[in-house]
Amino acid sequence: MIDIHCHILPGVDDGSPDMDTSLKLAKEAEKQGITAALLTPHHMDGKYINHPKDVKKETLEFQKQIDVHGINLKVFPGQEVHITGDLLKAIDDGDILFADPYSRYIMLELPHTEVPEYAENMLFELNARGITPVIVHPERNRGFQDDHDLLYKFVAQGAATQLTASSYVGVFGPEVEKFTEEIIASNLGTTFGSDTHNFKGRRYRMKDAYIKLEKQFGIRTVTRYKYNAKAIINGDDINQGNIIPIKKRKKFLGLF
Ligand SMILES: [Fe+2]
Repeated sequence: MIDIHCHILPGVDDGSPDMDTSLKLAKEAEKQGITAALLTPHHMDGKYINHPKDVKKETLEFQKQIDVHGINLKVFPGQEVHITGDLLKAIDDGDILFADPYSRYIMLELPHTEVPEYAENMLFELNARGITPVIVHPERNRGFQDDHDLLYKFVAQGAATQLTASSYVGVFGPEVEKFTEEIIASNLGTTFGSDTHNFKGRRYRMKDAYIKLEKQFGIRTVTRYKYNAKAIINGDDINQGNIIPIKKRKKFLGLF
C-alpha cells in the first residue's frame, strides 16, 4: 500500500512537529501496511513555502532515521501545491516538486471554500504541458460539494483525484463520507491518500478505508486504487475507469 499524501516530514508545516513524532508516524504507517509514502508538505498556500531542494534534503535525512530505527518505509519527496495564479511560473522556475520522477503528476490543493474560476483554465494549461494535476481531497472542497458536475467536468478534462481515507470512513462527518462514496461510485476517485498530519488530529485511516472499499465496491476497485497510487509516484498511466456524472440525490418532497 502506498500513501501519496502525508505531512509526516518533521517540522516543516502543520504536520509532524519533530523527528520523534515523525518516526512514530512512520511506525504507524508500517502498521497500516504502508510500504512507501510521498511526503507532501504544503507549498505556496499563503502560509508555507517548502522549496524542492529543502524537501529533498529533509526527506533523505528522514529516510536515514527511518532506516536506523528499522522501520520498513520508503519515503519520497513531494509537495502539496496550493493552486495560485503563479503556479505555471513556479513550474518554469523549478520550484515545484512533482509526485513522480517524470514530472507528470502534481498534488494540487484547491482552497477549501471554493473552486477558483481560473482553475479550469489552469487545468487546460497543465494538460497542454503534459501534466496531470491530482486534485487532493475534492470531497472536502465546498465548490465540489455544492456542484458535483464540476468535479465530473474536471476529471473528464484530465484531472485525477486523491480522496482522503479518513473522509471515506466518516472522520469529517456523514456528508463528506456520503460525497466520497458518490465520487467513488462514479469513478471520479483515482486513489486514496491519508493526509496524515500528526497523532492529535488527522491521522492514518488507510487500512480501514481499503477494508470499506472492498466491502462496498469490491476487490477490483481496491486493486485499481492501489495500482493508481503506485502509478502516480512512478509516473505511469493511471486507470481512472469509466467516469460518469454523480447521480442527483432524490429530493425530500417536504410533505410533512
Ligand atoms: Fe494535506
